[in-house]
Amino acid sequence: MLRGKRILLIVSGSVAAYKALELARLLGKAGASVTGLLTPGGARFVTPHALQAITNRPLAQDLWSLEEEGEGRGHIALARGHDLVVVAPASADRLARMAAGLSDDLAGAALLATQAPVLVAPAMNWAMWAHPATVANAAILANRGVRFVGPEEGLMAEAESGTGRLAEPPAILAAIEAVLQNSFPDAANPELEAALDAAIAAGEGGEEDGAPVFPTGVGSAAAAAVAAVAAVAAPGPSPAALADTAMPDADEAGAEPAGDPLSLVGRHVLVTSGPTQEAIDPVRFLANRSSGRQGHAIAAALAALGARVTLVSGPVALADPPEVEVVRVESARDMLAACEAALPADAAVCAAAVADWRPAEVGTAKIKKREGAAPPSLTLMPNPDILATLSHHARRPGLVVGFAAETEAVVENAVSKLARKGCDWIVANDVSGDVMGGRENTVHLVSAAGVEDWPTLPKEAVAERLARRIAEALA
Ligand code: C5P
Repeated sequence: MLRGKRILLIVSGSVAAYKALELARLLGKAGASVTGLLTPGGARFVTPHALQAITNRPLAQDLWSLEEEGEGRGHIALARGHDLVVVAPASADRLARMAAGLSDDLAGAALLATQAPVLVAPAMNWAMWAHPATVANAAILANRGVRFVGPEEGLMAEAESGTGRLAEPPAILAAIEAVLQNSFPDAANPELEAALDAAIAAGEGGEEDGAPVFPTGVGSAAAAAVAAVAAVAAPGPSPAALADTAMPDADEAGAEPAGDPLSLVGRHVLVTSGPTQEAIDPVRFLANRSSGRQGHAIAAALAALGARVTLVSGPVALADPPEVEVVRVESARDMLAACEAALPADAAVCAAAVADWRPAEVGTAKIKKREGAAPPSLTLMPNPDILATLSHHARRPGLVVGFAAETEAVVENAVSKLARKGCDWIVANDVSGDVMGGRENTVHLVSAAGVEDWPTLPKEAVAERLARRIAEALA
């Protein structure tokens, strides 16, 4: 799949830079042609000689080198001549420079000039990754269509533990394949795409009063993440208090306030629910324990407020909610296709427990068990991320809501997920208990207005509350 693909590998300053050499080796082995670009910080950790030797191609390093420019390694040549730009490792400084659009070094200039998709693999100390500035930068980049792989959780160079480790080279390789494979030709520039779409829809040729037309919603995810982080980090009134002002709510039991005029009549809402099943062969699959109860309840609650609801559901043992159009799917890829087919929508709620991986090869016949033979091994590959895809889609719903099932650091992880996925709200739930398949849920709503801690409620009440929030936001 990678044979003949031209990849610009930007190595920025991190102690994990040595892993970029392994990544370059894996890419070369898979048939890709890799040009190494060392930033000044990167060159402190790996030598130009090592990167050049392993990529087997002349390295790029200096924005002002006449020699590099003359030999076709100037920033424009680098930007044009590659199918994908990978920044691995991407330091906190590099993410900040990218978010700000700085071009005072070769990597910055090439990243600004490229039209190719960009994949970043962040690596830094956990506190740097969790810093609101980095989260905001990541949100800006994600909202611009930059893809992220990692960072992962684990032990760091400083003998501290946390999220910030560079993804392992095989995982970065798999992400590179996924970006090159899945059909996101516009991923590097979703806003332009959206603006063109809006202009075509309006029949105005791309401009209104001389200004580009951007549909509402585009860019809101970054703002949401920034504001969410600001709300979490800000001294003074608690985030919950901020949320209370910004998002007036009914009583704690989740009941409808008297005389509530909320309605979703005329609105179309897309909901995903249930697990996905990823085929191993015609009779076996990989799946998870999701019952679909929460997603189905949300679909029912939205329909009860008058919305036209398309529920894209994986295999569940639940009755279809009343007044809801149900599209049944099995795999993550089918779920994504069904979601895209259901667009446009005013809002999307991704409550499905989509399988993160699927078997790389699906047997056409049942894999036979043979006496005495070793069991077969499964090679997995990443599934498309439906929430992130919808969040960056040219026809992005105005409001995109994701779920985050966490067993620890629930709110912190939700805040960074908001940024990573590019959605507007995250409903974060603690799944350390029996939430998956259970009837109750304890959630936190993470949004631009802050973090709201909801009491433990039946899943139906969580759904009703969320449906009301959506109606308020769309009103
Ligand atoms: O990263 P994580 O799987 O924890 O993110 C959960 C959120 O992302 C949920 O809203 C889920 O529906 C969505 N998701 C998705 N496609 C995937 C993985 C997760 O839409 N492949």
